[in-house]
Amino acid sequence: MNTPTIATTPEEARFIIAQARQNNLKIGLVPTMGALHAGHASLIAQARDESDVVVVSVFVNPTQFNEAADLDAYPRDLAGDIQAAEAAGADLVFAPGAADVYPPGHATTVTVGGDLTGTLEGAERGRGHFEGVTTVVAKLLNMVQPDAAYFGQKDAQQLAVLRRMTRDLLLPIEVVGCPIVRESDGLACSSRNVSARAERWNTPRRL
Ligand code: PAF
Repeated sequence: MNTPTIATTPEEARFIIAQARQNNLKIGLVPTMGALHAGHASLIAQARDESDVVVVSVFVNPTQFNEAADLDAYPRDLAGDIQAAEAAGADLVFAPGAADVYPPGHATTVTVGGDLTGTLEGAERGRGHFEGVTTVVAKLLNMVQPDAAYFGQKDAQQLAVLRRMTRDLLLPIEVVGCPIVRESDGLACSSRNVSARAERWNTPRRL
């Protein structure tokens, strides 16, 4: 198990990834908002199986939250995330700052229109939620430029929206949907489940 390299700016990440790319290595990206749990570990493990270099991004994306209080309460533990990413086999943890992702005066967003973002969670949380997700993921894909990006099937609508975004923007990136990992009581692992975080070190169970 290698200790992952930590990059906190896009420049550092690009420098490290450029070296891998020069060597024709396949780069897999697992985008996360941190608070890594067994579900993330399984995404990282799948990326590990299918890529030469595994990058895990950790960024709590403010633009996809509806409520400021929810954003403030979101669990943050970068040291723990680095440990969890290491245990799961990551090579690089990329944890950019808010100003790296959203430079002062930023005015550009990425929106997937139509029913895909207006129904289900989009109807519940508003289209702004998915616009926040697509905007940040487009930025992460741009910063890391992976060959493949890994997302959980737990967030099925998010996965469909991200597939549509990469297709519509002609991004040469494979979007890989990974099986749901559940806690012992059947609940899908999520950073919002306190008990899922307690299970951080458990072996992922694929259903
Ligand atoms: O699924 C998540 O954790 C987030 O929505 C993502 C894809 C990392 C974007 O912030």
